[in-house]
Amino acid sequence: MIFELNEQQRMIRDMARDFAAREIAPIAAEIDEHERFPAEIVKKMGELGFMGMNVPEEFGGSALDSVCYVLAMEEVSKACASCGVIMSVNNSLVCWPLETYATDEQKKKWLTPLASGQKLGAYCLSEPGAGTDAAAQSTTAKQDGDHWVINGMKNFITNGANADILIVFAQTNPELKHKGIRSFIVENTADGFSIIRKEEKMGIRASDTAQLAFDNVRVPNDQVLGGEGTGFKIAMSTLDGGRIGIASQALGISAAAYEAALAYSKEREQFGRPISAFQAIQWKIADMATRLDAARLLTYRAAWTKDQGQRYSEEAAMAKLYASETSHYITNEAVQVFGGNGYSKEFPVERHFRDAKITEIYEGTSEAQRMVIATMELKK
Ligand code: CAA
Repeated sequence: MIFELNEQQRMIRDMARDFAAREIAPIAAEIDEHERFPAEIVKKMGELGFMGMNVPEEFGGSALDSVCYVLAMEEVSKACASCGVIMSVNNSLVCWPLETYATDEQKKKWLTPLASGQKLGAYCLSEPGAGTDAAAQSTTAKQDGDHWVINGMKNFITNGANADILIVFAQTNPELKHKGIRSFIVENTADGFSIIRKEEKMGIRASDTAQLAFDNVRVPNDQVLGGEGTGFKIAMSTLDGGRIGIASQALGISAAAYEAALAYSKEREQFGRPISAFQAIQWKIADMATRLDAARLLTYRAAWTKDQGQRYSEEAAMAKLYASETSHYITNEAVQVFGGNGYSKEFPVERHFRDAKITEIYEGTSEAQRMVIATMELKK
C-alpha cells in the first residue's frame, strides 16, 4: 500500500492550489454575497484543463486520473465551494456519462466543447416529486418520427441557468418504471426550454441552482444517450462519480475552516494566553484534524478504486457520507473556535459553515448514501 501521491498528482494539486489562492480566494466572499456566477473563473478553469479532467485528450480533456480530480476539486473548493460544485457537475455529472455512454459521433459533438471548457453542462434528474426517489420521474419523452418530445419540470439543477448542454432524464414508458427511463442531450437553445427561477440559497450562492421547464422540447434521435431502458443506470452510475466530486468539495470546505480555526487559535488571546493553550480548544483541533484526515483517506480510496476500473458505488457513498458530515462538524467547530467573530461575515468561516450543509443533501442525501452502503453490505 502506497500512501504517497505521484509526481503528476502533486503537480496538479500544486497548480490548483496556486490558481485557487491567486484567482479564486480573493473574490470568493464577493461572489457569495452578490450571488454572482463566476463566469471568468469557469473560463480560466477550462483553460487550465479543470473542466474535463478525466476525459481523453482526443475529446478535449486532460486525461488525468480520478485522484488528480479529487486533489484539484479540494483546492478549488477550499477557496470557493461554489466554484467547486460548478467544476464537479461539469466533470462528473456531464462529461463522465458522455465519455462512458455516448457514441463517438456524440462525443465529438457534445463532449469536446464541455471537456475543454468552451461550454458548460448541467445534469437534470431531480424533479419536484423525484428527489431521493429518483426513479419516480414524471418528465416524459415521447417518440415522434425521428425526434423525441420532452415535457416536464426539473428542479435544484446546478448550473441550470448557465449551462449550454443538459443531460435530461425522462420517462418513456411508465409501466416499465425505472427501466422506462432514458437520457437525452438537450441544448439550452432548444425551443420550449426555459429557466423558471433561480433558488435563493443558504450557501454555494455563487453557483446557480435553477428550476427548468421542458415544454414540448424536440430532440433528434441522435441526441438520445445510451440504449433503451438504460437511463436509470446511467443516472445512478453517473452519481457514483458525482459523489466522489462532492466528497472532494466537502474536503475543501473542511480544510479551509480547519486551517482558519487553527491559525486563529494561535493568535487569539484570552486570560493572557493564546486560546490554543487551552485543552478545550486543543481537543477540538485534534478531532477536526483526525476527521479531516479520515475523510481524505476515504475520498482518495474511492477515487483510486475508480481508477482501478472496479465498481466504486459503495466507496463513493462512504466517502460522500463521511466527508459531508465531517464538513458539517468541522465548520461548526471552526465557528465555535472563532466565537463571536465566527458568526460575523468579516471572517470566512461563516461562509464555510453555510456552504458545508449542502454537501449532506445534493447528489444523494446522507440518508440515500446510507441506503446505498447498507444495500451493498447486506449483499456481501
Ligand atoms: N450503478 C449502476 N446501476 C445501478 C446503480 C449504480 N450505482 N444503483 C442502482 N442501479 C441499478 C440497480 O442495479 C437496479 O437495476 P435492475 O433493475 O436491473 O436490477 C436499478 O438501478 C434500480 O436500483 P434500486 O432498486 O436500488 O433503485 P431505487 O429506486 O431503490 O433507488 C436510491 C435507490 C439509492 C435511493 C437511488 O434512487 C438514489 O441514489 N437516490 C438519490 C438520488 C440522487 O442522488 N439525486 C441527486 C440528483 S443530482 C443533484 O444533486 C443536483 C445537482 O445538480 C448537483
